[in-house]
Amino acid sequence: MKRFILSLFVILLFVGKLAADEGMWLPMLIKERIPDMQKNGFRLTAEDLYSINRASLKDAIVHFGSGCTGELISSKGLIITNHHCGFSQIQSHSSVENDYLRDGFWAMSMSAELPNSGLSVRFLIRMEDVTDKILSSYRSNMTEDERVKLINENSNELLKAATANTHYQARVESLYYGNQYFLFVYETFNDVRLVGAPPSSIGKFGGDTDNWMWPRHTGDFSLFRIYAGKDNKPASYSKDNVPYTPKRFFTISVKGVEEGDFTLVYGYPGRTQKYLHSQAVRYITEKSNPHKINLRTLRLNIQNEEMAKSQEVRIKYASKNASVSNSWKKWQGESKGIERLKTIEEKIKFEKEFNEWAKDKPEYRGVIARLDELYRELEIYAFATDYHNEAISSNEIIRLAGTINTALKRNSKMTPLVSAANIKSILDGFYKDYYLPIDKKSFVAIVDQYSKNIQAEMQPPLFRDMISKRGGVAEIAECLYSSTVLACEDKAYRFIEAGVTEDSFVKDPAFILYNAFNDNFINKIKPRFDEINSEINLLYRTYMRGQMEFNKTGVFYPDANSTLRITYGAVKGYKPNDAVYFKHISTLEGIMEKDNPEIYDYNIPQRLRDIYSKKEFGRWEVNGTVPVCFIATNHTSGGNSGSPVINADGELVGINFDRVWEGTMSDIAYDLQMCRNISLDIRYVLFVIDKVAEASHLIEEMNIAD
Ligand code: ARG
Ligand code: GLU
Repeated sequence: MKRFILSLFVILLFVGKLAADEGMWLPMLIKERIPDMQKNGFRLTAEDLYSINRASLKDAIVHFGSGCTGELISSKGLIITNHHCGFSQIQSHSSVENDYLRDGFWAMSMSAELPNSGLSVRFLIRMEDVTDKILSSYRSNMTEDERVKLINENSNELLKAATANTHYQARVESLYYGNQYFLFVYETFNDVRLVGAPPSSIGKFGGDTDNWMWPRHTGDFSLFRIYAGKDNKPASYSKDNVPYTPKRFFTISVKGVEEGDFTLVYGYPGRTQKYLHSQAVRYITEKSNPHKINLRTLRLNIQNEEMAKSQEVRIKYASKNASVSNSWKKWQGESKGIERLKTIEEKIKFEKEFNEWAKDKPEYRGVIARLDELYRELEIYAFATDYHNEAISSNEIIRLAGTINTALKRNSKMTPLVSAANIKSILDGFYKDYYLPIDKKSFVAIVDQYSKNIQAEMQPPLFRDMISKRGGVAEIAECLYSSTVLACEDKAYRFIEAGVTEDSFVKDPAFILYNAFNDNFINKIKPRFDEINSEINLLYRTYMRGQMEFNKTGVFYPDANSTLRITYGAVKGYKPNDAVYFKHISTLEGIMEKDNPEIYDYNIPQRLRDIYSKKEFGRWEVNGTVPVCFIATNHTSGGNSGSPVINADGELVGINFDRVWEGTMSDIAYDLQMCRNISLDIRYVLFVIDKVAEASHLIEEMNIAD
């Protein structure tokens, strides 16, 4: 193990073939990259980015909610993230009378800022390489179970020590498939209030039509504020809490960016899979993605049709629709990109070379072949799992039955009445955003696909029986939605009023179906799926080490795993197709070109039209217009939404929010020609706050450098 770590260190020092722009680096190890970064224009030091001895830029960054990034932009705890990251909070404060999604929301004083239950942000306090500690007393003759047990015990010790006498939380994460372990210590704040959001016609301008695309003109930002107790420490919501004073916040630069300028994105990318075997990539791009895309197309068509008919339904399904559509579109770009890059063929070629090299290395010799075998065996289980998630668990009433079921099991010791109170809160959350016709039509469409595409033996026998007795999925849906108590809100509340136990719903068809699918999945699919996957993961530990030994001059970075990372690159246009070149920056002119009151996604607020026709751009004007978004070569992923995009001096110039469609395969294979992250130009943010929202008191809080 020691030897491996040593060689890893040497590898990290060596600047090899990797395109300078690819890579998601651990802040603590950023020293290794500083020479390359400085060569590309960066003017700060490693300590400016990450330090445990003094405030550094990492102290101005938060993991926002569970899947986004946000950053501090004032000494009063003001944070900025994307509109789509705050979307569910904005939605939950919205109603037909107070439609903040449509009209935007601006707190004109702190007392008007809106609390959000369930929303938290966390700061990284420190990180530490704990590989030696985690594997101390590991012996190479241990079984895998013994190794896992040892790791758990050692992690628990470390976590206890890291958080003793503090209010911190800690986690140990594995990197490089269990070849390295890092400890992360966090501080979490739970009182986070909504401060401002532009109307969706700015914050989601272009909607799902422009999503994942360039040229882009989305003002994808929202503002929140962290509140703390009087001691500046985390406290649960109270009206007596005060704005948090951060250790560090970003200075904003309004100088803007030019093509070629250095940029750095600092945030929490969720998941990448660079080191996959060719079979895994084949499964994703040729089988899993096409089927999942098809299932979501069916759902989206149904949602879009119903949402177009009613404002109420549109609000209810806004957030659900955006998230279904988001991966749907990304998967399409990803499969195309992998095909264009010939990633599968490249991997097969690499695997041949690796095998040649490994011929006389018993440790590595059989790894590729065994992975190949296991992936082939995994396929039917992976496919059934994909369908279970996308075609069964995505049915809302079935999922509600599942949530209630789980709660009742957990509540089994409570009195029926206390239990009913818990179920009531589940129902409240559910019906707030539920529209039965969408759910029912989706059920018919996607469960039908399940019944056709999954081998009959892998489906629940009860479901097969129902199909043959009733004739088809449409008939099952007819029966389900007319007789489950959950289909009618009033009935459901009345039903639980007198108290509920685990037995209350045994005869209800939604519960019967949920249980049939769930038991089938748990008993017939999951065990083998997990078993094969755990063998695969174990092999990756060896394969990963092998890839590093094989390519001694290569530069490696650990796949993203929702831990804080730095990625750097340059502002740059790209060539998506023959005869087309996309420039690096978009402007307000493009918004006006797209503006169309007839098309929901492109119907901008009248106020923006007025400002434009009078050219009232104020200090945000550049060459007669206002910059809106820009693209760069930074290697980002889902989770990087809301991440600060900083210039060579560490000033905030943009907010990351997307990638270009032609480059969405970068989670698996990065390509300098096509992969671009999309950022919102900070000057557009300031323009919207100042001129559209007239909330200049917020700008006064910020530190703006010219
Ligand atoms: N594609 C961006 C991301 O992955 C933005 C998603 C939200 N916007 C939307 N139109 N669905 O999160
Ligand atoms: N919009 C994505 C997010 O929510 C970021 C875009 C990406 O996947 O790169 O994190």
